Amino acid sequence: MSNEGLLSEVNKRRTFAIISHPDAGKTTITEKVLLFGEAIKSAGTVKGRGGTGQHAKSDWMEMEKERGISVTTSVMQFPYQDALVNLLDTPGHEDFSEDTYRTLTAVDSCLMVIDSAKGVEARTIKLMEVTRLRDTPIVTFMNKLDRDIRDPIELMDEVEDVLNIACAPITWPIGSGKLFKGVYHILRDEVILYQSGQGHMIQEVRTVKGLDNPELESVIGEDFAEQLREEMELVQGASNEFDMEMFLAGELTPVYFGTALGNFGVDHILDGLVEWAPKPQPRESAERQVEPAEEKFSGFVFKIQANMDPKHRDRIAFMRICSGKYQKGMKMRHVRIGKDISVSDAVTFMAGDRSHADEAFPGDIIGLHNHGTIQIGDTFSQGENLRFTGIPNFAPELFRRIQLKDPLKMKHLQKGLLQLAEEGAVQVFRPLRNNDLIVGAVGILQFDVVVARLKSEYKVEAIYEPINVATARWVACDDQRKLDEFSKKAHDNLALDGGDNLTYIAPTMVNLSLAQERFPEVKFMTTREH
Ligand code: G4P
Repeated sequence: MSNEGLLSEVNKRRTFAIISHPDAGKTTITEKVLLFGEAIKSAGTVKGRGGTGQHAKSDWMEMEKERGISVTTSVMQFPYQDALVNLLDTPGHEDFSEDTYRTLTAVDSCLMVIDSAKGVEARTIKLMEVTRLRDTPIVTFMNKLDRDIRDPIELMDEVEDVLNIACAPITWPIGSGKLFKGVYHILRDEVILYQSGQGHMIQEVRTVKGLDNPELESVIGEDFAEQLREEMELVQGASNEFDMEMFLAGELTPVYFGTALGNFGVDHILDGLVEWAPKPQPRESAERQVEPAEEKFSGFVFKIQANMDPKHRDRIAFMRICSGKYQKGMKMRHVRIGKDISVSDAVTFMAGDRSHADEAFPGDIIGLHNHGTIQIGDTFSQGENLRFTGIPNFAPELFRRIQLKDPLKMKHLQKGLLQLAEEGAVQVFRPLRNNDLIVGAVGILQFDVVVARLKSEYKVEAIYEPINVATARWVACDDQRKLDEFSKKAHDNLALDGGDNLTYIAPTMVNLSLAQERFPEVKFMTTREH
């Protein structure tokens, strides 16, 4: 493929994820976005709503259905206008935040969704902190305008103060709740009218051009027309104008208003994303920066997921393509193990349905069948020894000992736990001094998921019980002699994690500080890059 051909494929791609607090409307927006992408005919099938008998494309475990949370991350690709959009779904529940953080390393921009009755909520603050690590550009959607909302100016002030990002309104709401009339599109200078009760389909757009158009009075009423004109004077005087450079630096966010449930405003966001959000960006590796239009293929694995579809009992490694082109049957170098492999059956995620991809380009996500050799963070290339950086592992905060009901199943248990650890579903620590299996997690629900999956996928009945561990730190030391000495002296507190990395397991925080004082040359790390 000529470099120009590759470049034009790169320029078409927009890869983003939605960040929000649970219940702000992420699932509903995903439905409507897919509707616009013509990926599904009528919205209402993503979470199995509406009694259609179809179940969620991203929900795959009974457990998450029961709990009403999305445990998994999946990928949906769809065309919109001239662009090809990749939407990476993230788990809404904070107990699965590690997955979300790693998914955010694989996107070029994010859509932040805010419940306009509630404003900025806790999880949004956390996720915004993560996007800051890479200065990811953010587009904002103020959702649920069909309900009574907080004052829009106050909402934007809150985003600016709490999230420390400038807001540039692109649309402005006219009324809310039962009196929601639509939005004024500031850049297009037109009023776009809302029609209620049409959330399940793409609405015919009714607009009134120009703020001074006398027709406005007749469609939204005199009071609203007057109020809108007054507010626009105020808003245009007091708020920021859209600035591309600041947007790309993650310093300013364009803000849209609407209702996902009423399917109003979602197309405005998509227009904004296609027009402004960055195409696939260059990526840092330990060796050098990799440009998307480089001829040679490269990519990294940010997630591993098992048994997404009961018909395909396998594990899929999600890879973000960073450069070059994937072509069915091509040879790739699995850099960590130094082996070339032939890939003929990668999956793509066209609108949630898994299908085989003949080709894929930078910004796209492909799924590789994983038989236990691929780990999160692995780099694939066409020969070059590249290692992409910045895919984090977080020290767990909660610990449990896993016990077998049937002691003869130890091998199955070990295999299952190590595979789940490799996927990032949980972390596993094997103490040097005994045969315990300790699992560590960031959120308590992860333990339930692990036990449920051990049972359904590995046929192992296990239980978890409390263990006296307060925290864990990965350890490293430049001086091998000192590390050996430390390993001897701290032997009873050391363990190996799923990837055989040395870890210090501390029964109390005081114990950890004492160890740090005693061994100043040793680094105790709370995150580890894959
Ligand atoms: P999430 O994925 O971010 O957790 O949110 P989700 O889309 O599931 O939305 C949470 C709830 O908010 C849902 O109601 C959904 O219908 C509702 N919702 C989303 N967007 C809007 C909107 O623009 N206006 C209004 N009024 N409601 C909205 P639910 O009753 O919890 O779920 P369901 O019974 O409708 O499935």
